Amino acid sequence: MRNYRVGVVGLYRGLGPARVFDLMPDCDVVAGCDIDARALERFGALFPQARQYGAYDEMLTHGLDIVFVASPVPLHCRHTVAALEAGCHVLQEVTLAGNIDECRQILAAVQAHPRQKFMLAENCCYWAHILSWREMWGQGLLGDFMYAEAEYIHDTRHLLRQADGSPTWRASMPPMHYCTHSLGPLLKVTGERCVAASGMSVTSGFGRCRPHVGAFGNGQRGDLPVRAKSGTEVAILQTASGGVIKILVAFGITREPMFHYYSIYGTDGVLETSRPPTSPLQTNAWLDSVPHLNNMIEMPITENVTDAPPEAAQGGHGTAEYMMIQDFVASIRDDTPPPLDIHAALRMALPGMCAHESALNGGQMVEIPDW
Ligand SMILES: NC(=O)c1ccc[n+]([C@@H]2O[C@H](COP(=O)([O-])OP(=O)(O)OC[C@H]3O[C@@H](n4cnc5c(N)ncnc54)[C@H](O)[C@@H]3O)[C@@H](O)[C@H]2O)c1
Repeated sequence: MRNYRVGVVGLYRGLGPARVFDLMPDCDVVAGCDIDARALERFGALFPQARQYGAYDEMLTHGLDIVFVASPVPLHCRHTVAALEAGCHVLQEVTLAGNIDECRQILAAVQAHPRQKFMLAENCCYWAHILSWREMWGQGLLGDFMYAEAEYIHDTRHLLRQADGSPTWRASMPPMHYCTHSLGPLLKVTGERCVAASGMSVTSGFGRCRPHVGAFGNGQRGDLPVRAKSGTEVAILQTASGGVIKILVAFGITREPMFHYYSIYGTDGVLETSRPPTSPLQTNAWLDSVPHLNNMIEMPITENVTDAPPEAAQGGHGTAEYMMIQDFVASIRDDTPPPLDIHAALRMALPGMCAHESALNGGQMVEIPDW
């Protein structure tokens, strides 16, 4: 068995999945790149045998097989295209890119390098409850698709500014661009595709919002764009089969703890997740095929698969990264299409970008490209 040499760019989020790559029997993490010396130091403590790079182009000359792109979203397109051009397979963090044009550039680069694998690292698709739902959906237990919802509620206002008060990349990202954690699992379970999007941004209420600890450095509210201040958008998506999906992404809303919520309604039943404070996570289901039910069935399925080794939870989100990276590496080893290939990635990312475009135009429906 040959070993794949893995390089990681972006050593904040990148560290968790890097540890998981290192658990794979045929992967070695041999290089890490970050422009921040402290990030390189943390990486060096975890991977003393790996080479550290302050410049990405230099890391690409290391002789890598796989690059994990975990740099800020505005750099995804540049970093992924360069890795493909350097002959590497790419696992790339969400969301796909900073805008629709960059999505097209990534698609072109993937198509220009058909022997290399590209996969979007949409880890939420690999949570145990989502994997179970997919199985149940595949067995026809829910019938045909009708309606689904997802909510990602996560107060991240403290991530909008650097220590010196300048805005981070997150401050200029429209919240609905970050829809893949929500939409991805719904599409993965049901096989649906979104064809049109309408969006709305929350622009009210900021004046009365308590500044989040650390959010605005010295306590000033500063000059962040309104969409970053409220950080909250809703999308209504029409699917190809005539169904409807509603997504809420809320990065600036007062609610703890953060959570992801999913529900899927088919002609023969519904699956939905619990919201905190119900803990641990569970699935509630109604299935027409089960006679004499007089309430939802409570299923104790959490984010974690039950048959993973104990060390599999090092990726950052339970066992999700472990299952995802296993699948990605298997697609390279077996030369099969990666489960979250560029087309799946576009279907998860473009609806959010179109919904935000719609929000800028008063909610007018925007057709979603199908490249
Ligand atoms: N899938 C998930 O659950 C999940 C969770 C968190 C973040 N993310 C994604 O991971 C990516 C990174 O997020 P983060 O929270 O780590 O962001 P961050 O801003 O906290 O960290 C980004 C890191 O990249 C480094 N960096 C910036 N420019 C660089 C360059 N030109 N070359 C090399 N390194 C550079 C920074 O120094 C920093 O260490 C984003 O795409 C984000 O959306 C995904």
